[in-house]
Amino acid sequence: MSIIIMVGPQGSGKGTQADLLAQRLKIPHINMGGLLRAEVAAGSDLGRQISAIMAAGELVPTDVASQVLKRRLENDDAQGGVVFDGFPRNMEQDRSLEKILSQLGKKIEHVIYLNLPDAAALERLAGRRVCTNHACETNYHIEFNPPRVPDKCDRCGSPLVQRHDDTPEVINKRLAVYHAETKPLIELYSQRGLVREIDASQSIAKVADDIKQATATW
Ligand code: AP5
Repeated sequence: MSIIIMVGPQGSGKGTQADLLAQRLKIPHINMGGLLRAEVAAGSDLGRQISAIMAAGELVPTDVASQVLKRRLENDDAQGGVVFDGFPRNMEQDRSLEKILSQLGKKIEHVIYLNLPDAAALERLAGRRVCTNHACETNYHIEFNPPRVPDKCDRCGSPLVQRHDDTPEVINKRLAVYHAETKPLIELYSQRGLVREIDASQSIAKVADDIKQATATW
């Protein structure tokens, strides 16, 4: 059983690396942003409530995010462990996650912190393309990680698009939220001795390799 949290600024590669780590450990990658985008795309009541918040780069309310997360965690495939990407993002969400996990007899075991300067984050997000199939949502980069066929997902063949929140204005807003709310969480987890810090400014393969070494005994 592994409960692993992937944390870092926007564009640090949380989604990219959580996907690789989850495949290697044979546990699901739970992508909070992806789960919320799927609600918006489905046009659910909840999706309508959160659409404008996400478009502005703000955090959706903790009770809403927690409700979506809890539902996903109850799936059979999550019982052997998960890699969380994008949750928790602040102290309130940490308390909420602890509560959800304790109800399931689980706790946070490891935190991988992908450290990246904001300037690099902006460059990466400007070139990101994502799969339009919400069940897939594979990430690409036009220069650093291009698809085999331009604008087509390697995994499922669906079209690739630029995310609506990958504009310079919204990226800066998301980074500001990260520094104000998520950074203190990394301090908290460091004090608990849970954090492995990885230099995320390296290539995708090198970051994956460093994570592999840091997690060799998990
Ligand atoms: P979310 O979708 O989680 O976005 P994010 O946190 O802003 O993170 P990103 O997806 O932008 O970055 P990433 O670190 O995953 O990088 P990636 O691997 O894609 O959240 C979106 C919104 O949902 C939030 O703004 C909020 O509104 C809401 N939300 C989500 N969680 C919430 C929560 N807990 N509570 C409340 N609201 C919540 O990589 C980026 C690019 O760089 C890609 O193009 C990739 O190919 C490339 N790349 C990756 N690694 C490398 C590398 N090593 N070298 C070169 N290129 C690389």
